[in-house]
Amino acid sequence: MAGLFITFEGPDGAGKTTQLKLLAHHLQSLGIPYIVTREPGGTPLADKIRALLLDVQNENMAPKTEALLYAASRAQHVEEVIKPALVRGDVVLCDRYIDASIAYQAVGLNLSPDMIRRWSVEATDGLWPHRTFLIDVPSEFGLSRIAARGTPDRIEGRGVLYHERVRRTFLELARQEPDRFVILDGSATIEAIADQIRHEMNRLLNL
Ligand SMILES: Nc1ncnc2c1ncn2[C@@H]1O[C@H](COP(=O)(O)OP(=O)(O)OP(=O)(O)O)[C@@H](O)[C@H]1O
Ligand SMILES: [Mg+2]
Repeated sequence: MAGLFITFEGPDGAGKTTQLKLLAHHLQSLGIPYIVTREPGGTPLADKIRALLLDVQNENMAPKTEALLYAASRAQHVEEVIKPALVRGDVVLCDRYIDASIAYQAVGLNLSPDMIRRWSVEATDGLWPHRTFLIDVPSEFGLSRIAARGTPDRIEGRGVLYHERVRRTFLELARQEPDRFVILDGSATIEAIADQIRHEMNRLLNL
């Protein structure tokens, strides 16, 4: 596959969506074909699964159900959106991916990280991103940024300890794969972070 697969990860409110949009503008200005997508969701079918996952009424959802729904949504997303885009040679900018499942479901819900990884690897035929921008912020900091948005969804409402474990897991995943991850300090200004991302992207594109 000729394209470049880029993911954005990090705690809630870290600035993933903000930076993804700025990188999209950058690619647009360079005339490089790209698509923007997100998980869970990214296709009509996967969006229905996303709605199940975020619905506060599903408070009795079993951890393995949650993890399998993420894997199911991802299988659809890869097949219908990501792989075709990469085959066309596009840059794929994706808001969250497998690392988020490992951080949120495996560690947060006390499931085996290996099992979660296995499920997602099966679901995606082992499609991993070329680069993952991990925007790191203390979880309380991130949560306070998005508090203004209103009522938290089912995952956001899980409390600071859960989110702090999620954050530490992201950092551990990055430590294990230093060639894939770029860790960014999410407490820097939006422009400073965007600059670092553009720099790395230009390098990947041999510009
Ligand atoms: N570096 C930054 N400095 C200050 N504010 C920021 C920064 N990055 C993002 N914000 C603001 O914080 C809020 C959350 O940003 P954003 O939606 O990009 O985070 P996110 O990681 O996508 O969140 P979520 O996990 O909920 O999707 C927005 O209001 C955004 O404008
Ligand atoms: Mg976002």
